[in-house]
Parts: sequence; C-alpha cells; structure tokens
Amino acid sequence: MTAGAARLERFRWWHVDAVLPVEAALFPDEPWTARTFWSELGQVGTRHYLVALDGAAVRGYAGLCDYPDEAWVQTLAVAPDAQGQGLGGRLLRALLEVAEALGQRTVALEVRADNAAAQALYARHGFTRTGVRRGYYQPSGVDALVLTRRS
Ligand SMILES: CC(C)(COP(=O)(O)OP(=O)(O)OC[C@H]1O[C@@H](n2cnc3c(N)ncnc32)[C@H](O)[C@@H]1OP(=O)(O)O)[C@@H](O)C(=O)NCCC(=O)NCCS
Repeated sequence: MTAGAARLERFRWWHVDAVLPVEAALFPDEPWTARTFWSELGQVGTRHYLVALDGAAVRGYAGLCDYPDEAWVQTLAVAPDAQGQGLGGRLLRALLEVAEALGQRTVALEVRADNAAAQALYARHGFTRTGVRRGYYQPSGVDALVLTRRS
C-alpha cells in the first residue's frame, strides 16, 4: 500500500470510526478508545490533530497538545501496511510546524522504551532523551522515555 499519496487534513470526529481499527492494530495493549479520541478532539483550544487519508482510507494520524510552556505529541501512528514510506516523518514534521506556528519552542513526548522504530524517527527529528517514567505503560509495565526537542 502506498502512503505517498495520502493527504494530511484536520482530524475530525467523523474520522474516528475509521481510525479505531488502525489504533487497535498498532497499540494492541493500550489502544485509545473512541471516548479518548472524542475527548481529545473536543478540546479544540489545545489539541491539534491531523489524519492522513488516501481516499476514505486512514493511513495515519497524529496529535499535538498545546500546553502553556511546551507542546506534547499526544500520538503518532501509521497503518502497518503504510509504514516505511515516509508518512510518519511527514506527520511528525506537520506537528512540528503546528508547534512552531503556536510559538512553542519545546516539543516533548513519551515513547515506549521498547519502540526502537519510533525512537529512531524522533532522533532523526532532533528529539533527545530527557527523562524516564518507570512502568508507565499499563498493563505491560513498559517504561516510557521522555524525549524533548528544543528549537
Ligand atoms: C513510528 C511510526 C509512526 C513510523 O512511521 P513510518 O511511516 O514507518 O515512518 P517513516 O517511513 O517516516 O520512517 C521510517 C523509516 O522509513 C524510511 N523511509 C522514509 N521514506 C521512505 C520511502 N519512500 N521508502 C522506503 N522507506 C522510507 C525512513 O528512512 C525510516 O527508515 P529507518 O527507520 O530504517 O531509518 C510507525 O512505525 C508506527 O505507527 N508505529 C506504531 C505506532 C507507534 O509506535 N507510534 C509512535 C508512538 S510514540
């Protein structure tokens, strides 16, 4: 499946149903529920979400939270059969552009300590490790690494 043709647009409530199977495939231990997505999308003052669409098919999605002093990457996801084609990088760079437009010079995120692919992507985009949260992910008990990028 090609991801290159996917267009990025604002993630709206009507995309949630199509996103849920992708979420379940990517995060089988701790998938976000429809309620979580609805809550995120409803916080319009602080949340900035994008979805990557090829026709009506969801290839990926990503979200940013605009806190007072820094922005946080809430999620970043590319459908399994669309990975490795640059879409994750496109989504991440789009979030970084949003952060810049919001005047945020610091962007942070949490990533599973066992997620080498995501860590490599973040490292290539200037994120460095600034902390660890032991046993953060439940029920797996996997640590979260806190990564931070300053511009
Ligand atoms: C992490 C994730 C978002 C990365 O998405 P992705 O679309 O595969 O990322 P990219 O394609 O931009 O980059 C990944 C690799 O593809 C390579 N790539 C980029 N463009 C490419 C192309 N046109 N053809 C082939 N490979 C390409 C990149 O160089 C990179 O290679 P490397 O890691 O071996 O150095 C994705 O793996 C994912 O959704 N994982 C599950 C959910 C997850 O872990 N999310 C992060 C939570 S913090």
